[in-house]
Amino acid sequence: MSLDGLSRRHFATLAGGAALGLSAAPVHPADAGRSEVRAAAENSLAGFPADFRWGTATSAYQIEGAINEDGRGPAIWDRFAHTPGTIIDNSNADVADDHYRLYRDDVQLMKALGATTYRFSIAWPRVFPDGSGTPNPKGLDFYDRLIDELLANGIEPFATLYHWDLPQALQDRFGGWMSRDTAKAFADYAAYVAERLTDRVSHIFTINECSRLVHLGHGLGIDAPGLKLPQAELNQVRHNVALGHGLSVQAIRARGRPGTKVGPAENLVVCIPAIDTPANVRAAEIATRELNGGYLTVILEGQYIDGFLAQAGKDAPKYTAEDLRIISSPIDFLGLNIYKPDHYVLAADNERGFTLAPFPASFPHMDADWLRFGPEAMYWAPRHAAKLWGVRSIYITENGTSSVDEPAADGNVYDLDRVMYLRNYLQQLQRATSQGVPVAGYFLWSLIDNFEWADGYQKRFGIYRVDFKTQRRTPKLSASFYREVIKQNSVV
Ligand code: BG6
Repeated sequence: MSLDGLSRRHFATLAGGAALGLSAAPVHPADAGRSEVRAAAENSLAGFPADFRWGTATSAYQIEGAINEDGRGPAIWDRFAHTPGTIIDNSNADVADDHYRLYRDDVQLMKALGATTYRFSIAWPRVFPDGSGTPNPKGLDFYDRLIDELLANGIEPFATLYHWDLPQALQDRFGGWMSRDTAKAFADYAAYVAERLTDRVSHIFTINECSRLVHLGHGLGIDAPGLKLPQAELNQVRHNVALGHGLSVQAIRARGRPGTKVGPAENLVVCIPAIDTPANVRAAEIATRELNGGYLTVILEGQYIDGFLAQAGKDAPKYTAEDLRIISSPIDFLGLNIYKPDHYVLAADNERGFTLAPFPASFPHMDADWLRFGPEAMYWAPRHAAKLWGVRSIYITENGTSSVDEPAADGNVYDLDRVMYLRNYLQQLQRATSQGVPVAGYFLWSLIDNFEWADGYQKRFGIYRVDFKTQRRTPKLSASFYREVIKQNSVV
């Protein structure tokens, strides 16, 4: 299928009238003749759309603690974190930020920022301690309280159903995502949550980062459940996860309030034109479609494209046409987690139509080797999604960075590197929205320092510092920066 011929049928609702306008930046007559760079810079002064949503993001396992409270069952991350050698500082998330008890205080932190939305995740093992079957009667009580508290403070709740804390029971029973039964159990859980919460929650994300949960959890063994599966099994896990996404979209449509909006939150492979020429832009689009073949492309197109199948070869997943129909169930918005550029792309006269430039060792990165500093990722990723797949509503569901964050002599945390990172990424987002790329909101990762998976408490992503001994939260300089951005609805 030609790229330009892709239909927009996968989007159930259209974001009110925002023109894509992707072929050229809007240029005021007075700007005619000026360079595109200059025009884009001036457009960026226009700020974000008036109804832009500003928020922060967290996930249940990383902040809640209280792993044995109110009937919660064990999660695969409990088992994993308690296995020696898995977490860099031998820590676990038994307490984490104690958010289960301190959620009211944390809502006040959001309010102090002026945030209008909050993206949190629901812990499946609280709701179905055994993974499926009879729900725990107290399973959603905490989220009821949290949602009510958010609404009482003028903050709109956006809920993620799955941020990797699979009930251990499902892993034990049939190998978790290695089985389609987990995708079905996920849909049942989604249906139950939708029935209970969509009177107050109108936006639901299905799965956070299918690709990371597959590759780090089941390929590299870095995340729970710590498996290192061979390629064919890994591809089947990937397919089952995508199927779980699709089944849960259908379950939410069937059991949620009419008008509930649903979509994935994916960390797509971000492809950037190495030099901004029309040919390289086109090459970066082709690369985006191909390199996201196992996730976004199948979700948005309902097919495994040739490039993906050719690469998978004999290890391709087993699937039916009905599976593909389910996986590509219409969604209302696309959530994108954007931290870094993945590839810089050049047009090439080869079969693929592109080459990927290797990264020089000197390429800048933040306080983690993987976290490359490439703010233009924030411009190109949503622009490609809108152009390639006709996406009409996008949320940046995560963006942020870790920083060393040592308090200075006066006790303040001057996280200048995080402020620099955020300023540059947000300028690129503003460049995108100024050109009509339909981004409706932004969730900064993260509100508070938390349990950063295999990095334990060694990496801090919060804009509020957490002293994990006292649970004291202190705003960093970046919290002031973000409050100002929200207040101005602009970054310059
Ligand atoms: C995202 C996850 O991929 O990256 C978050 O959705 C995570 O849960 C964030 O905290 C940072 O990753 P890491 O590996 O540094 O903890």
